[in-house]
Order: sequence, then C-alpha cells, then structure tokens
Amino acid sequence: MKQDMIAILDLGSENNSALARAIRDMGVYSEIYPHDITLASLKSNPSIKGVILNGGPNNVVDGKKIDVADEIYSCDIPVVAIDHPAAKCPSVKEDEVKEFVFGTCGCEANWNMENFIADQVELLRKQIGDKKVLLALSGGVDSSVVAALLIKAIGKQLVCVHVNHGLLRKGEPEQVIKVFREELGATLIYSDSVDRFLDKLANVADPEAKRKIIGAEFIRVFEEEARKLDGIDFLAQGTIYPDIVESGTKTNKIVKSHHNVGGLPDDLKFELVEPLKYLFKDEVRACGKALGLPDDMVYRQPFPGPGLGVRCLGAITRDRLEAVRESDAILREEFAKAGLQGKVWQYFTLIPDIKSVGVRNNARSWEWPVIIRAVNTIDAMTATIEHPDWAVFDKITKRIIEEVPGVNRVCYDMTPKPTGTIEWE
Ligand code: XMP
Repeated sequence: MKQDMIAILDLGSENNSALARAIRDMGVYSEIYPHDITLASLKSNPSIKGVILNGGPNNVVDGKKIDVADEIYSCDIPVVAIDHPAAKCPSVKEDEVKEFVFGTCGCEANWNMENFIADQVELLRKQIGDKKVLLALSGGVDSSVVAALLIKAIGKQLVCVHVNHGLLRKGEPEQVIKVFREELGATLIYSDSVDRFLDKLANVADPEAKRKIIGAEFIRVFEEEARKLDGIDFLAQGTIYPDIVESGTKTNKIVKSHHNVGGLPDDLKFELVEPLKYLFKDEVRACGKALGLPDDMVYRQPFPGPGLGVRCLGAITRDRLEAVRESDAILREEFAKAGLQGKVWQYFTLIPDIKSVGVRNNARSWEWPVIIRAVNTIDAMTATIEHPDWAVFDKITKRIIEEVPGVNRVCYDMTPKPTGTIEWE
C-alpha cells in the first residue's frame, strides 16, 4: 500500500462516514472499523498510522456500553477519542483532528486516485492471478468504473454480462451494448431476463423482499451465464462504501439492505471482487475520470441496482412499470433540454401503488400520480432537494399527463435526506 491511513473505530457515532470523508479530504486515507476489532487485526495493516475512537449516542449494544479492547489503549499506535471522554486515552475535538493526523501520527497527504488505482491494480492482479472474472455490467457509474479498473488490471480475463431485468431505464440496454461492446471492445454477454424477473416479482409488495428477490435472481443469472463459460472463478461487483456502512455495522441500525450486500444467496459460488468498496460516490467518479472514462459516463447520475423496481412502489405491475419508465425518460429529456443534466445530482420519477380521481376529456379518470424526485448531494449520505424551475416543471407535467398512459397527476417530493432517503423504497 502506498498510502498512510487513519482507522476510525465506531463507538456508536452517527458521523463515522463524515469523519472518514473529512480525513480523506485532508489527503489521508481513512476507514471505519467496528469497536471490537482486535489489536492484531489493526496491526496487520502497517499503513495504519493512528486510531480515532469515534463515540456517540449509539454506544450501547445488547444493553451494554461498548468500549474498545484495553490492548488498543496501550498499543504503540497513537490513539485519541472524539466526544468520548475516556481516562484511557487523550480526547480531541473535531477541529483538532488535522493536528492529530499530521502532527501526532506524522501522516503524509498521499491519498489520491493515482495511488488508489496503482494499489488496486496490484491487489486485483494478486487476487485474480490468471483466472477469469465475470462482471455485472449495468452501465451505471459504479459498474462502469469497475469495468475500467478491471480492464486496466486484467484486460481480456474480464467477461462482462449485461442483464436486462426489465427494470432498466428507457434505452439503457441498447446504450450499454453500444458503448462497451462496440466502442470499448469488451467481451459482453447480453442476457434478456425480463420475464424471469417480473414473474418472480409479481405480487411482492414488501420493499426488502423485492430487493432480495432482485439481488438473488441477479446472482443466479450470473451463475448460469458463468456455467456456460469456461473457468470463471470471480464475480466483480460495484459495491461502494455507503452500501456497506448503511447495511449496518455493529452499532448502526439497518437503514435498508442494499442488493449488493444483503441480498446475496447463501449458495453463492463465486469469490467476490469489489475494488470500489472503500470509495464514496464522488470518489468513484474521480476514479473513473482518472482511468480516462468519458465525462458523460463518469458524471452520469447513479441508478440503484434494483432499478425501476424500487420506483414502482409496492407490487410491480407491467403497466405501472412502463409508466415509470416513460415518465422518467420525459423527465431526463426535459432536464437535459433545460441544461440541468450534470448540474442536478440525481433525478427520477416514481409511482406509488395508489390511484386518484381526476378529469380527462370531460370524464372522470381514476389513475396514478407520478412523483418527481430531484436531489443534490456530495456522497449520498445526506441530500437537499433541487429547487424547482417552475417553467421546466410545467412542461414536464404537461408532457407526462399527455404522453404517459394511466397517469393523471404529477407531484414533487420536497423532502431532504434525512428524513427521506433518496429512493422511496
Ligand atoms: P438512498 O435511497 O439510500 O440512496 O438515500 C442513496 C443512493 O444510493 C442509490 N441506491 C442504491 N444503489 N443498490 C444500489 O446500487 C441499491 O439497492 C440502492 N438503493 C439506493 C440511490 O439511487 C442513491 O443514489
């Protein structure tokens, strides 16, 4: 490893991610670990130059107040606590962290994408050897950056599979094939699995159940594709750090299970390759840019693995799914025309499983509402809403109610994160 590192031990804080980000922004790599990590595990990583105990309100687990092992307090790596006055080690305020990192620990500001990529290429080559890797290439930012990183590390040993689960945005499967197969020359297998996914999801209304079905089915499709190929041992995934942090550490409550983490079936046959699992979203984009990916791919808005499945709320029906897809395409088209593409971090439509009374052609209508969500964020952990340009929203509304069958209303979600997550499910 080429970079120094600060370990954050989670003693129940709610801002572990923000602290890790703040330290990385100083140019020093930082990772979050559970409070019960052993000194031996910490010591096994010689890059660790300092330890911060990050205390906070979630410091009671199973009815007991948590602490780190005594051996950590007495080790030869500098240890400090934040918001956790402990007699066993010095305590610092947040604005003193910089002095701790550079002064006490003597870290060098050497965390940058070139070093990250060089480290990852070395680690990937070591992990994979001469074996083959199967990559779930959705075409989103994360999987595209994973593909670029793997192409750099192992070239032709990478096999990409694009699964159309029927929950992709309008025109997306076509675009993935064009960019990766035709322009980047990747080995790309296209799997049309639309009916298979939608049949499995029929009548399933619970969001966690939907995510788990999509995640599990995804892996099965890959396994089937892999069995048709020779000697695939690894499965690459675009898991990123917020997926891991939000899936619940020992002190965090589970916010929601991300399909990359919580939904893996027990009978998984592959070893995982997850080179982005320690990067926040904006760092993934910087990594893609450093790898030379085009801007429109790197700055494309994120799209969840379960796709439109988490935006067609409740039990998915094909007609409502089509309405989500069409309204989303209109929203994206009009945002692009208004110069908002690349300016607003993420925007999409969703349709709840309710109908309301309206009037169309002088007759009563009984149709769905489309809800527009448009948010800005740095790392997807918190978000603010895009303040609407009403002229643009008038046009979008007019087009959606005229062009999308089954829709008679358009609403705008005004909620920041927290309290709302970005997605509704
Ligand atoms: P939330 O809804 O948690 O979303 O505020 C934060 C960001 O993550 C995306 N997202 C997902 N991405 N698998 C993914 O790969 C998922 O299951 C998933 N759920 C949400 C979401 O679109 C937003 O950018």
